[in-house]
Amino acid sequence: MGDLGVLPDHLAPHTAAVDALGELIIGGMRVSELVRQYGSPLFIYDENHLRTRMREATEGFGGGRVIYASKAFPSVAMARLISEEGLWWDAASQGELEAGLRGGVQPKRVILHGNNKSFDELRMAIDAKVGRIVVDSFDEIDRLDYLGGSASVWLRITPGIEAHTHAYVRTGQQDSKFGFNLANGDAHRAIARVKASSHLMLSGLHCHIGSQVFALGSFRDAIDVMVTLAKDEGVEELCIGGGFGVGYLRDERVPTIGEWTSWLREAFVAHGMRDQQTFIEPGRAIVAAAAVTVYTVGVIKEIPGVRTYVAVDGGMSDNPRPVLYGSGYEAFTSSRLFDPHDMTVALVGKHCESGDVLVREARLPTDLQVGELVMTPVTGAYGYAMGSNYNKLPRPAVVLVGHGQARLIARRETIDDLFRLEVDG
Ligand code: LLP
Repeated sequence: MGDLGVLPDHLAPHTAAVDALGELIIGGMRVSELVRQYGSPLFIYDENHLRTRMREATEGFGGGRVIYASKAFPSVAMARLISEEGLWWDAASQGELEAGLRGGVQPKRVILHGNNKSFDELRMAIDAKVGRIVVDSFDEIDRLDYLGGSASVWLRITPGIEAHTHAYVRTGQQDSKFGFNLANGDAHRAIARVKASSHLMLSGLHCHIGSQVFALGSFRDAIDVMVTLAKDEGVEELCIGGGFGVGYLRDERVPTIGEWTSWLREAFVAHGMRDQQTFIEPGRAIVAAAAVTVYTVGVIKEIPGVRTYVAVDGGMSDNPRPVLYGSGYEAFTSSRLFDPHDMTVALVGKHCESGDVLVREARLPTDLQVGELVMTPVTGAYGYAMGSNYNKLPRPAVVLVGHGQARLIARRETIDDLFRLEVDG
C-alpha cells in the first residue's frame, strides 16, 4: 500500500497508492484521470479489494456458505464477481434477483428475502429454482401454498436479541416487522405449518439481528438461541444473517471480515454445528471500503466565527446515510494527500436542504481551491444503492478499477434519463 499521506490505511481501498505529488491511485488508475474520463461525482470501486474481501470471508468461515447481501450494492458487475468467487447472492426483491441472475450467479446459489414478497417475486423465484426462499410471514406461506410450486425454504426467526446499533437498522428484537416471533410462539407455529406442507421443504432457519453491529456477543447470543431452536426442531441449516460492522472514521478500528467470519465459525463449531450447515450474509463488510466517491468542489463559503461550508457537486442523492442515520464519514483531497488537512469545514452537497451534509466536520487543506477533487472513502455500501434523483440530479457513474484499467459498470445518468418515466416528458 505504501505511504498514503493523510489517508488512513484502514479507510483506503486495497490497491490504494499515492504518487510522489500526493495524488491518489486506485487499481493502478489516477483518480484525476478517472474523473477526466468519466466525470464528477464518480464512484470508484477497487476490484482487488472486493475479491480479497470475498476470499477472506470464505476462508474465515471454513466450509460454511457466504451469501453476499446484494442490497449493499446490487449491480450486475458485482454479481459477476460474486459468482466467480463462489459466493451466494441474497436478493430482497425481483430487481435484486434479476441482477444476480444477469450477473451469472447460479440460481441454486440465490436466496430470496423480503418481508412482503409479491406473487410475482415468489413465482419468479420458484420458476428460476432459486436455492432458498426465506419465508417471513404467515401470509407468505399462504401465497406459497396458493402458487403450489416446490421450494426449499428457510424461516426467518426474530430471536429477541437487541443488537447494539442504530434503531433504524436493528431487526432482531421482539418489536420488528421482520420474521416470526420466537417468544410468542409464532416461530413454532410457522415451523409446524411448513413441516406439514407437501410442497415446501423446510431446510433451515434464518435470523438477522441488525446492521453495523460491533458486538460479537450479540451474534453469539443469536447463535445460542438459533442453534437450540434448530436442534429442537430437527432443522439442518442455520443462517445468522449479516451486519458485521465496518469502520468509517479515522479513529475507528474494527475487526476485519476474516476475523468476524472465523469468530462466527468458532461459535458455530462450539455448538457442534458442521460447516455445511452454516450460512452468513454480509453486505457492508464486503463492499463498503472497496469504494470512494470523488466530488468536485464548487463553492467555499466562509462565515467568519461560524463555519466554513465546502459545497460539492453531489450530496444526499448519492449518499443519504449521513442524513438518514447521522452516519459519519471522512473527506480528503484526492490530489494532495501529503499536504496537511487541518482546516475544519462542513462538506455539503448541492441539494435544497440544510440537512444535505456529507461530512459535518471534514478536515481539508487550508488553501483548498474551487475545482479541486475531494473524496469520501468507504462509500461502497448503501450509497449508490440508496441513491435518488432528488432535485432531478442525475446519478453518478460507477467504475470498477484494477490492473491499470477502468471499466464503466454504470454510466452516468443523462438529463433525458431523468424524464424516461414521465409520460408527458
Ligand atoms: N441479511 C439481511 C436479511 C439483511 O436485511 C441485511 C441488511 C443484511 C443481511 C446485510 O447487512 P450488512 O452486512 O450489510 O450490515 N441502509 C442501512 C443498512 C440496512 C441494512 C438492511 N439489511 C445503512 O446504510 O446503514
